[in-house]
This record gives sequence, structure tokens and C-alpha cells, in this order.
Amino acid sequence: FKVPAIENEPMKSYSPSSAERKLLQEAITQMEQELPFEVPCIVNGESIKTGKIAKQPLPHDHAKHLCTYHEADEATVAKAIDGALAAKEEWESMPWNDRAAIFLKAADLVSGKYRYKLLAATILGQGKNAWQAEIDAAAELTDFFRFGVKFVEELYAQQPAKNSAGAWNRVEYRALEGFVLAVSPFNFTAIGGNLPGTPAIVGNVVVWKPSPAATYSNFIVHQILTEAGVPPGVIQFVPGPPAEVVAQAINHRQFAALHFTGSTFIFKKLWKDIAANLDNYRGYPRIVGETGGKNFHVVHKSAEVKNAVLQSVRGGFEYQGQKCSALSRLYVSSSVWKNGFKDQFLEEIAKIKVGSPQDMGNFMGPVIGRPAFDKITSYIQKAKAEGGEILIGGTGDDSKGYFIQPTVILTKDPKSITMREEIFGPVITVYVFEDAEFDKTLELVDSATEYALTGSIFASDRKALIHATNKLRNAAGNVYYNEKCTGAVVGQQPFGGGRASGTNDKAGSISIFYRFVSARSIKEGF
Ligand code: ALA
Repeated sequence: FKVPAIENEPMKSYSPSSAERKLLQEAITQMEQELPFEVPCIVNGESIKTGKIAKQPLPHDHAKHLCTYHEADEATVAKAIDGALAAKEEWESMPWNDRAAIFLKAADLVSGKYRYKLLAATILGQGKNAWQAEIDAAAELTDFFRFGVKFVEELYAQQPAKNSAGAWNRVEYRALEGFVLAVSPFNFTAIGGNLPGTPAIVGNVVVWKPSPAATYSNFIVHQILTEAGVPPGVIQFVPGPPAEVVAQAINHRQFAALHFTGSTFIFKKLWKDIAANLDNYRGYPRIVGETGGKNFHVVHKSAEVKNAVLQSVRGGFEYQGQKCSALSRLYVSSSVWKNGFKDQFLEEIAKIKVGSPQDMGNFMGPVIGRPAFDKITSYIQKAKAEGGEILIGGTGDDSKGYFIQPTVILTKDPKSITMREEIFGPVITVYVFEDAEFDKTLELVDSATEYALTGSIFASDRKALIHATNKLRNAAGNVYYNEKCTGAVVGQQPFGGGRASGTNDKAGSISIFYRFVSARSIKEGF
């Protein structure tokens, strides 16, 4: 059999009188009336209510919460690991077309039956506006599942180039021995589905710890996978205190891989914990992680100003800058800055409406929670203390929800704190460089920070684009020309970066699937 041809999921427009807008608003209203939901752990297909209760607040209205959830305790995590290992043999030996069918069906459920529910949970629980939620929980999640099946079909077709006479050489791509631990972030519901989904498509069993701040949308994703036919035990849903759940999984002898998206700090810690445990494992665990970013736009003197302005506003402030790929360092050539960029940039930002994410007039919603609010506002203070000039924004209001105004800091120091460190919020720091210092600026772009995730070059001079790309060889895993540095599309721009930004295994491409299989070569003599 062959997997059917696939396309990226078309995005809906949510224009004012559209049917989809009405359906989404109904789903949001219903969810608001019914909240808070109760979310159990799901282990071996059973709901487990541990009684260790935690809450997922609404970031725009923190007195309310979207769900209460039962944190996995030690016994539940142990049961999840044992159950996953028990489910393993049947799952990995299931014919590939059956596993493929399950994920194709899951994609259809995301794109159809569950679309508005999943969007509503992402909007209310994670503070995305409708369009940002659509990109994520409808389109990207569907794409991860559908393209995942396609990539695995391609992977399985990778066979040795040559047979010797009287023999047949072949390679089997088997699931890893043991279980995979998936630790997913709050900021993309799609990544919540992809971190367990990618290893599971190739026959692995997965213990999945979702982000506390995305518990409810991720629980719906788990329900979808179950309805699509993922058997009990194959993906265990264990929300819980990160340190405990993760430590217990990593300490297990059958721990085979970590599939992680989150902070650089936590990823490095987990890597060290895994290293410390190496003698305890049956094999060398695979470690796959996508972590932080400190992403740049460089605007050359030949850039088209209006485009560079609009792309920078979107790259920096969509979803409140809470994308690992978000723009946070903006280097602008001084002639461009003076001749329109600065004025247009500030004008566009002044138009941005910040408020509740379910109100479709708002471009920006809240940041995810109290720690994020405090961290972002403290970076703004640190920038000021270092002599940064706040050109717009700089204020926040946490009285009802965690709102921060889109903020632009102008710095004269290209290595100031907000040019170096990840803030994960709606803050762009601008450094204006002399037109003649393009080359020197590229060196600053490369050396200012430890991260290397995404970056864009804006220029109409093709030589400048190519020169910058060559100079910034290791500064970003995803490079864009004349486009914002966010919004990689599954199957189109394989996503991931190097240095402190991750293992660069490229989500949304065939590459990442190699990390979750253990190949076996077979030579048969005739
Ligand atoms: N993959 C997401 C993006 O490119 C994070 O924006």
C-alpha cells in the first residue's frame, strides 16, 4: 500500500461573518460555561484520579481556571511505565498500515470533529488569539500527524544501495528498546501532539508529561489519539510536577529516549541527569530537544522598509512573543531606521490591541502566567537599568490577567542583557548600526548570544542576503529572507536550531524519525 498524497491543512480565515467564526465562538462560550474541567491521568486507557490536585488558570482571567488536574504520583508513573512496556510488543509489531491509519484518522479528527474544541482550549487556556490557535492546534497538529505518516513511509523505504550476488540486503527500522519520555511545552498544542506522536508512529511506547499550562488542550489531544485507535498503554498521559515525573522516568532502566521541547536550562539539567545514570540503562538513550531562542532580524540598507516593519511586528509580537522562534533582536541599518522604519514600526505597534484572547479584535493576549509576567517585566527593568531606552510599551497589568504591552527597547550596547538572554515575551530590542558596518554587525549577531534557532535577513540586494547567510553559518537553524523568523510549516521548513537551541533534529521532516528508530541490517544468502 501507499500512503495517500497529502497537503498542508488549509487555514480558516475567521472573517467576521464566516461560519467558522460562529462555530468557534459557540465552542468558546460553551467551554466558558462548563469550566473548570477535571483532568485525570490516563494510564493503560484508564482514568486515574490521584487526588493530588493542581490547577490550570486562565491567563487572561487568573481568578478562574480551565481545569483542575490530577498530578501523577509515584505509583501512577510506575504504572504508566510498566503499562507502556507491556503494550510495546503488540504496538510495534502491528502492521505499519494499521499504525498509519490511526494517525491519519487522528489528523482527520483534529481537522474536523475536534477542531473548535481544541481551538477553544488553546485560546482560553494558553492565551492564543483565534488565528494563532488555528495555525497551531488545527493546522500544525494535523500536519504533524499526516506528514508524520508520509515521512515514516519514506523512512521505511530507505534500503541499502546494493546487494552482493546471491544475497538480499535489507534494513528494518525497529522501535527503540524501552520507552520514550515526551516532555512538552505550553506554547504549542501541536507540539504537545507531536512529541509523543512522532515516536509512537514508528512503534514506540511513550510516557507523556504535558506542560501544566497546557493540560486541558493536551488532554483533548490524548482523547483524539485514543479515539483514532492508539491502543491503551501506548501513550500514557501523566501530567504532574515536572521534576518528580521526569526524574522517575529518567531513572528507569528501560528509559530509551527523551523527546523534549522547553527551556535550555531544564534540557541541560535532564541531559546531565541522564549522563549520570548511563550505567543503569540497557542502551544509550537518544536525546532530542528543541529549547530556547534569541532570534534576530537583520535589516540591510537595501531592505524594503514596509515589509521589514510588518514582518518584525508579527515576528516579535504574535502570541506575545512566546514562541521559541520569536523575534527578539532587531538589527536595523541606520539609513533605513531614519528613513521610515522607526516611525512606521512604532505606528504599527501603537495600533496593537492587547486583551482577552477570545475577543477577535485583539492582536495580543496575555502571557502565560505569573512567573512569565514577572520574568518579562524584570527584563524590561534590567534593560532600563543598563541604559536601554523604552521606545514604546514597557508596562504590564496583572490585576486580572497577565497582560504586557508590546515593548521596544533601543540599545546602544549590542551585548546588553536583552540582546543576549531569552525573555520569551513581547519584547524586541533594537540595535541601529551604521550602513557601512553590516559585516561587523553580522559578527555581533553571531556572537551576542548562546542561541541559534531562527533569524531573518531583509535585503533587496541579493549579494547581501548571501553574504549574511554565509557569515551566519551557525547562528540559526532556520533562516528566512525577507520574511519573519516564525511560522515554520511542517513539510516545508524543517524546524530546529543548534548551539543552546537544541539538537537540531528538525521537527516536521523525515530527519527526526531516524532518532526514534533502531535500525537492524539483515543479509540473507540464497
Ligand atoms: N515552529 C514554530 C515556528 O517556527 C515554533 O514559529
